[in-house]
This record gives sequence, C-alpha cells and structure tokens, in this order.
Amino acid sequence: METKLNGSMKDKATEQERFTLMQWVRDGALEKEFTHLKPQKIIEAKCQMCHNEGASGIPDFTKFENIKELAKQDEGATFSSLTRVSHIHLFGISFIFMFVGLIFSFSTTASTFYKSVAISMPYAFLIVDILSWWLTKLSPMFASLIMVAGVGMGASFAFMWVVSKKLQFYK
Ligand code: HEC
Repeated sequence: METKLNGSMKDKATEQERFTLMQWVRDGALEKEFTHLKPQKIIEAKCQMCHNEGASGIPDFTKFENIKELAKQDEGATFSSLTRVSHIHLFGISFIFMFVGLIFSFSTTASTFYKSVAISMPYAFLIVDILSWWLTKLSPMFASLIMVAGVGMGASFAFMWVVSKKLQFYK
C-alpha cells in the first residue's frame, strides 16, 4: 500500500490523505480505526471510483479484506526461501571458490601460509554472508553485515583471480 501511494497511486490523493493512509497502515491497519477514523472516507472518495467490484485486474476496495490484505507489512524472505537459497549458495559458491582456489594455489607469488589464508578467506565471508541473512531476519540491524560480507567475498575472489591471471601473463 505504502509503496503504491509513493508510486503509481501518488497522484490519486493529496499529501495529507496519503499520509493518513500510510499512518493507518503503519499502525497495524486495524478495522476499528479504519471505519471510525479517516481512512475509509479517503478510500471512498479517492480510490473506489477505480478500485470497485466492477474493475477487473485491480483489487476491489469496497471490501475491507482486500484493503487489509494490501496493508500487510512485507516481512522479506520467508524461512523456507532462506533455507533453500542458503543451501544453493553454500554449495554453488563453494564450488566456484574451490576451482578459483585450486588455480590460485599454483601461484608462486606468496608463501604457503599467505596462500592458505587467501584461499580460506572467501569461505569465511561466505559463512558470514549467509549467517547475516538469518540474523537480518531476526533483526534488521544486521543488514549492513550482508553488504560487508558480500564485498569481502567479492574482494577475496578478485584478489585470487587477478593474482592467478598475472601468473599466467608472466608465463
Ligand atoms: C484512476 C483510477 C485509480 C484510482 C483513482 C486509484 N487507483 Fe490504485 N490502481 C489503479 C490501477 C489501474 C492499478 C494497477 C496498476 C498499478 O499497479 O499501477 C492500481 C493499483 C493499485 C494498488 C496495487 C494493487 C496490487 O494488487 O498490487 C494499490 C495498493 C492501489 N492501487 C491503491 C490505491 C489507493 C490507496 C488509491 C486511493 C488513494 C487508489 N489506488 C486510487 C487505478 C486507480
């Protein structure tokens, strides 16, 4: 609802009316507040000429359930989709890193110790990355950790890639 009121439905109501609707949505979209306070009047006056039972393809706002449905908060990825994507990423990305790590291990530029660190780095970031998705589900505070881990993963990948490439160049 809020996305639409800031998007393609922006010109359908005044600033004040949109604010009232968003406020109502944010306060939990309660039916009691809908009928007793302003939201219903705004919907009737500004939205129902299009959003009514005669309209096809767009939700009918003469029924409260339909409005309620659209006023739900988007809670992001579900636990089942997180589980699925976590598996795919863990195995898929690990494989990519395995091959890059293998190629990198032939480079002669660094000592075995530094090579081991460089090879294990992306795995550490991968684990932190996936862990941070789950932590973000619990608290949005962790969202920035996803970015840090993603950048780390990309940087360690780029490092191995560039070093391996240089090796090939000198040969
Ligand atoms: C001139 C006709 C018209 C008016 C008036 C109108 N809408 Fe819409 N609305 C549409 C159309 C057409 C769509 C589908 C296209 C789109 O999403 O932009 C739509 C889509 C939407 C959606 C997305 C529905 C979905 O299933 O995802 C929401 C939410 C919405 N409108 C809210 C409102 C609200 C709130 C108002 C009143 C402030 C309003 N609209 C007034 C025509 C209208």
